[in-house]
Amino acid sequence: MSLGPRRLPGFFLGGPHPGTYARALFTMADTVSIRSLQERLEQVVSIRGWLYGKRSGGRIAFLLVRDGTGLCQCVVEAAQAELFSAAESLGQESSLMVTGRVRADSRSPGGAELAVTGLQVLQSASDYPISRKAHGTDFLMEHRHLWLRSPRQAAILRVRHTLIRAARRYFDDHGFTLVDTPILSPGAAEGAGTLFPVDYFGDTVYLAQTGQLYLEAAAMALGRVYCFGPTFRAEKSKTRRHLAEFWMIEPEIAFAELPELMTWAEGLVCAMVGAALSERREELALLGRNPAALERIAPPFPRLTYSQAVDLLRDPALHRKLEQELEADRARLKTLIPELAALDEQLSRARQGWQQDKLAQQAADLRERIRDLEAQVAQRPIHIEHARNFAWGEDFGGDEETIISRQFDRPVLITEYPRRIKAFYMKPSPANPDVVLNLDMLAPEGYGEIIGGSQREDDLAALRQRMAEEGMNPAPYEWYLDLRRYGSVPHGGFGLGLERTVAWICGLKHIRETIPFPRLMGRIYP
Ligand code: 4AD
Ligand code: MG
Repeated sequence: MSLGPRRLPGFFLGGPHPGTYARALFTMADTVSIRSLQERLEQVVSIRGWLYGKRSGGRIAFLLVRDGTGLCQCVVEAAQAELFSAAESLGQESSLMVTGRVRADSRSPGGAELAVTGLQVLQSASDYPISRKAHGTDFLMEHRHLWLRSPRQAAILRVRHTLIRAARRYFDDHGFTLVDTPILSPGAAEGAGTLFPVDYFGDTVYLAQTGQLYLEAAAMALGRVYCFGPTFRAEKSKTRRHLAEFWMIEPEIAFAELPELMTWAEGLVCAMVGAALSERREELALLGRNPAALERIAPPFPRLTYSQAVDLLRDPALHRKLEQELEADRARLKTLIPELAALDEQLSRARQGWQQDKLAQQAADLRERIRDLEAQVAQRPIHIEHARNFAWGEDFGGDEETIISRQFDRPVLITEYPRRIKAFYMKPSPANPDVVLNLDMLAPEGYGEIIGGSQREDDLAALRQRMAEEGMNPAPYEWYLDLRRYGSVPHGGFGLGLERTVAWICGLKHIRETIPFPRLMGRIYP
């Protein structure tokens, strides 16, 4: 069988006379992206991609092809016998080049479909492990390299990309210089408990927990700087908010004090949310994210001190409100359980494959909602008890963060935490040395801390004393102390955790879907 001039491996079919006609077709047809099909109405073009789904209705076969820019329905008529049988034999995720005439069709996902006249199969796949039915999370995580092909996962990666670009643009447009900080570091910056050791020519060094200390040196050279890189924490916590490897964007600003840092943090988050809303509406819709929750995000964000947040947690009015929510959740559960039974019943009676798929997905979603709600109902009384008994000086855990952040409709900034629970480099408040000039930003809707930062201790003697208090050996930090010896100035910065921000903006339940290949406690494959 003769092939077009741009010979690709695989077999080739073009009707009605494969060979001569097909050669002509492929020489003439431009290869275009699915996204651009709307501009090609009535033209003959080729698209390249993967078979996402297939439906056959006797006289006609529908191939649903994706190419990374969109989905396109390709229609093969049974009259083209050879094409038709080839189309019918293709398995999900087979790689293809499809040629055909572009027709406007409002039922096709991108508004245009292809009336197929030629088909080249690059690789015929069979038994693709991820079907369009519901799968368990463990199975999907084990097949993460393939799971990325699902429209949902691809949408998340696109939002992530947009958020990264927006954050960089924000700093680039405000006179910041990007400074890359090392990944291998001789010591801890965020507490020795979460260090990953690495053998470094016979010495033990660690994967960076933050770029901050090096960034402080760069800020003394360049004024406004930022870094963006992977950071590592050997956190022994299996929560929906923790990764062992995550990406952090960190600005560091000479002469900035706490109020200025809060303004930068607000500006950054608004720029990121704004970019998601203006560039990724389609993806947010696909993810089921209600944009209204994001459209509210505008400065100024509510600001609380740690002490005010503790008062809020201990306020009986809050406990009453939480108890009312608990009652409402219990009532909701009572209605959802019969709904699920009805769905299961419908599913058992469904005859057609597509109908079964749809109902199975709905039932799986509902089952998951019920599970979440049951967990919430079981946990809520414990959370209320914790809030009631919360003592000044303790660190907020995920539960407290969730309770606090749920009281506001936009991110909340919490400052002046107890010195004893925060890092050695944070500057104590001149008004009250028991607290530090730090800022944490909690995302709304219970997504927890997305930003942590502070004004830095800029006095040599005070910093030394603080390091001694923490039992730190000053030797590996002499260079850091030099920054306080030679032209020390007030300064500070913060770090925004990219994955937590992606989880919040996309409305995801778990952080593991926010990064292409998550590194979690108990997961390093693939
Ligand atoms: O609050 P953290 O530990 O702050 C720092 O590392 C500072 N040195 C940053 C600075 O001032 N330049 O971490 C900052 C953010 C957190 O608010 C959170 O969003 C994210 O990093 N983060 C994590 N994200 C995912 N998994 C983990 N294990 C994380 N630990 C922190
Ligand atoms: Mg923190």
